[in-house]
Amino acid sequence: MVPPPARRARSREAEPVRPRTASILAGRAWIGGRLQPVEIAIDEDGRIQSVGKVRVGAPRHDVGDAVILPAATDLHVHFRDPGGPADAESLATGTVAAALGGVALVGEMPNTLPPVTDVATLEEKAARVRGHAAIDVLLYASPTVARERVALARTAGAFKLYLSPTTGIAAAPPLDSVPGLLRELAELDLPLSVHAEDPGRFGAPERPRDAAEWDAHRPVPAELAALDSLANAPVRLRLHVAHITTARDVARLRERAISFEATPHHLLLSVRSAPGSLVKVNPPLRSEAERVALWEAFRRGEVPCLASDHAPHPAAERSLPFDRAPSGVPGVETMLPLLLSRVRSGEVDLPTVIRAACDRPARWFGQPHGRIAPGHRAHLIVVDFRSRTKLEGKRLHSACGWTPFEGWEAILPREHYRDGVRVVDAGEYVGSPNGRVVRPEFAHGKLGRPD
Ligand code: NCD
Ligand code: ZN
Repeated sequence: MVPPPARRARSREAEPVRPRTASILAGRAWIGGRLQPVEIAIDEDGRIQSVGKVRVGAPRHDVGDAVILPAATDLHVHFRDPGGPADAESLATGTVAAALGGVALVGEMPNTLPPVTDVATLEEKAARVRGHAAIDVLLYASPTVARERVALARTAGAFKLYLSPTTGIAAAPPLDSVPGLLRELAELDLPLSVHAEDPGRFGAPERPRDAAEWDAHRPVPAELAALDSLANAPVRLRLHVAHITTARDVARLRERAISFEATPHHLLLSVRSAPGSLVKVNPPLRSEAERVALWEAFRRGEVPCLASDHAPHPAAERSLPFDRAPSGVPGVETMLPLLLSRVRSGEVDLPTVIRAACDRPARWFGQPHGRIAPGHRAHLIVVDFRSRTKLEGKRLHSACGWTPFEGWEAILPREHYRDGVRVVDAGEYVGSPNGRVVRPEFAHGKLGRPD
C-alpha cells in the first residue's frame, strides 16, 4: 500500500539521503595546514564527502608522488566579454586559461563594454558565462548609477569602485564623496573592491616614456591618499582594496583591518625589470626597493589575498609608444604557477601561498572552496613540484598571446578537478564549459571583515 504523502515527507526528513561517493582521489594532500597521505571521497554533487581512509568502492585515482592542493580563487580578472577587443580575450578563453593555471573561480570586473552599471547589463554578461565559461565566475558591478545600486546588490557578486581613471574608466567620483558612498554601500551587504589611486596626486611627466616615468606620474602617495579616503568606512562593509603595490599600503590596511590583494607583477617585477610598454599597468610597477619590501611582507604572510588583475591587451598594442599604450598585463594562468615555483626555490612557504591564493579569497567571496575539507567543493589541483616550465606567451592560453613573465620558471598544475571531475589532464584542458555564475554565500563566513 502506498503510504500517505504526509508520512512519506516526514520519514524523508528524518533520514536525509546522502549523495553517493562518485570518486576517490588519493595521495598527499594539503589538509589542516600540512601535507598528509589521505583519500578524498567526492560525492555525486561534486562536494568533498570525507577526508581520510575511505572504505567504499568508487573509481580511485592515486596521484603518486605529486601533491593535491585546493584550486585557487582569483578575485580580479578582466575577460573583455562583451565588448572586446575579441583578439585579447573572452569568457571562454579566459576561463580555460584560468583552469590551466589552477584557478577554479574568478571575480570578473565591470569595465567591459557597456560597463556593468545596471541589472540588464549584468544579466547579459551572466548569460554569456553560462555555456561558455570553463570555471565559476563571480560578476562585479559598478555602483556609479545611484538608482541601480539596490537592484545590483541583489544580483551581482560584488561591487567594484574605481577612484581613478584606468582602462575603460574615463572618470571617477571625487574623493570627498567616497565616505558617503561607502556608508550607503555598507547597507547593501555586498563585498566592495576599490581601485585606490587618487588622480589629484598624479603629476609630471604628463607623457611618460617608460615604466619608471609611469611610476613617477601615478606615484605611491596617490595610493596612500586614496587609502585615506577609505579610513572611516563602516565596519559592516566588506571592504577590499585591489592591487596594492607597497609595504606601506600593507601596514596601513592591516592597521585598519581592511582586506586587500597584491598581484604577482607587483610582487615580482619592478620598473627595473620592465621592458618598454610591455609592463605598463595601473597602479604602476614600483622601484626595486619597494618591490622587495612588498615581497618581504608577502613572505611574512601579511598579504591576505593574491589576485592577478589579469588585464589582457592585444599583442599589437604593445609596440605603441609608452604614453599611448594601454595599461594592464595578463596573468590569470601564471599567478599560482609562478608562486609555486617560488615555493620550490624556498623563497616563500607553501602555507603562505595557499592561504593567499586559495583559502582567503574563497572565504572573501563566501564560497565553500579553497580548502580540502568535507562539505567544500571538490575543486582540486594536482601539482608535481619536479615539473618546471619556462613560460612562453605564445604557449599560454589567453587569447592575447603574451606574458610579462616571458622566460620565467613556473610550476603548472598537472591535473585540475572541478567538482571532482578532471578538467585538466597532463597539463591539457579536457573539460567542458559548465562554469556557473556564483554569488557570495555568507553561511560560510560572516558579514564584516574577515581576518
Ligand atoms: C585594467 C584593464 O586593462 O582593464 N588595467 C590595469 O592597468 N590594471 C584596469 C584596472 O584594473 O585598472
Ligand atoms: Zn583590474
